[in-house]
Amino acid sequence: MKMRCVSLILLLPLFSVVATETRNSDRNGFAGYKVYAVRAISKVHNDILTLLYNTYLDSEEVQFWGEPGEEGFWLRSAPLLLMVSPAQDQHIRNLFTNAEIPFEVTIQDVAEAMRMELPVLAESVSRDDSFKQTSMTWTAYHPYATIERFAQEIARLYPNFAQISTIGRSYEGRTMYLLKVGKPRADGKVKPVIWIDSQIHAREWVTSAVLTYFVNFLVSEYDTNSMARRMMEEIDWYFVPVVNPDGFDFTHTSANNRMWRRTRRVNPFSQCLGADPNRNMDQYWMVAGATQNPCQDTYAGAFPYSEVENLHVTEAILEHRQKVKAFIGVHSFSQVWLVPWGHNNSYPKDIADMRRMGEQAIASLKKRYNTQYTFGNPQATLGSPGAGGTMDWTYAKAGIKYSQSLELRDKGQFGFILPANQIIPTALETIDSINEVAKIVYDEYPPTTATS
Ligand SMILES: *[C@@H]1O[C@H](CO)[C@@H](O)[C@H](O)[C@H]1NC(C)=O
Ligand SMILES: [Zn+2]
Repeated sequence: MKMRCVSLILLLPLFSVVATETRNSDRNGFAGYKVYAVRAISKVHNDILTLLYNTYLDSEEVQFWGEPGEEGFWLRSAPLLLMVSPAQDQHIRNLFTNAEIPFEVTIQDVAEAMRMELPVLAESVSRDDSFKQTSMTWTAYHPYATIERFAQEIARLYPNFAQISTIGRSYEGRTMYLLKVGKPRADGKVKPVIWIDSQIHAREWVTSAVLTYFVNFLVSEYDTNSMARRMMEEIDWYFVPVVNPDGFDFTHTSANNRMWRRTRRVNPFSQCLGADPNRNMDQYWMVAGATQNPCQDTYAGAFPYSEVENLHVTEAILEHRQKVKAFIGVHSFSQVWLVPWGHNNSYPKDIADMRRMGEQAIASLKKRYNTQYTFGNPQATLGSPGAGGTMDWTYAKAGIKYSQSLELRDKGQFGFILPANQIIPTALETIDSINEVAKIVYDEYPPTTATS
């Protein structure tokens, strides 16, 4: 206790420096910014990081790529990442050193790391010829307009396999799509549905890249790849590739916006925009790991479903709930296979089945490139809970037993700005894991004649 007070008092002079923060409007975006990975190994460290987090809230000088978390955060194994401007670098480094918080610099220059998100041309990863049919590529990250066009092209190029529909409009008026993919059965039986969405968090670019790659894999390799064929014949796949199009587009408009996470709704009585759509669902809303401070990354919104994007997704899932047998929400990063509960450190009653699925999927994912995932709820794996998330809602309210969220690559080396040359490997290993989900779902919920 004594040590804790001393630490905080010592730090105060450092915090006051921040008041004169200058907005970074340099065209180079995050030139010279570093990313620090820190480990809180005591409660004192946790308190210091929480204070730091609150001090730099909504600042561009120090941006956290996660939250210090609450109880038990300091016990977690994964580091917390934060991005620091050149102007604040010495202060932050001194702070960590003085407080004996273990740290390492994982990215020396964020602007340089962002250049690796750009297209790799000549030496590009070999592309399958079948990819030529759409204007999409997976050697670069693309904005919403390209993903929108891709979804429409898929429906047009593969009318027997794919249908596109609109589920609503985002706050800023962008169209949100549901893309259904599958080979209809000759006997007309209803196949089990696996629902996958991505890009609910704006800055997690690899998620929609992987999801679109998967869509393309299913339809374009149906004839040649036995896994694609089986997945197409046994399952109907429902995709919402971009749940948060406004936030996603915002991350593409300027390098300075690249780290935006939330929606873009105007909040009354606050200058801070948007809410965390993965804290906005009407299931244990605001119970833990969420805040009512509109400037914080995990702002849950003023009330459940304050974000219209959440409403659209909710209604679309409910419309098909009888058929939907698994839900996968795709996030990055940390390499974790997450299951409920998000709001506390317990597991729901179906945990044995969920664990069997998760562990089988993780084992399959690992085979290709030895990428290692961990299984568990958010508290146990990431060190902090998150209430009001989609997977808790799909499990408890939509009755989907196999509800899970994936945190894709990596474990913090590049974090959200995963180089573009990792998109295809990430997609391939993720497809391997989803294949296990498909097998279990098909065995457990074979096609039925019921007209639900
Ligand atoms: C976590 O929440 C679930 C569902 O509300 C509840 O059944 C369980 O007891 C809770 N666990 C703890 C440790 O509070
Ligand atoms: Zn996320």
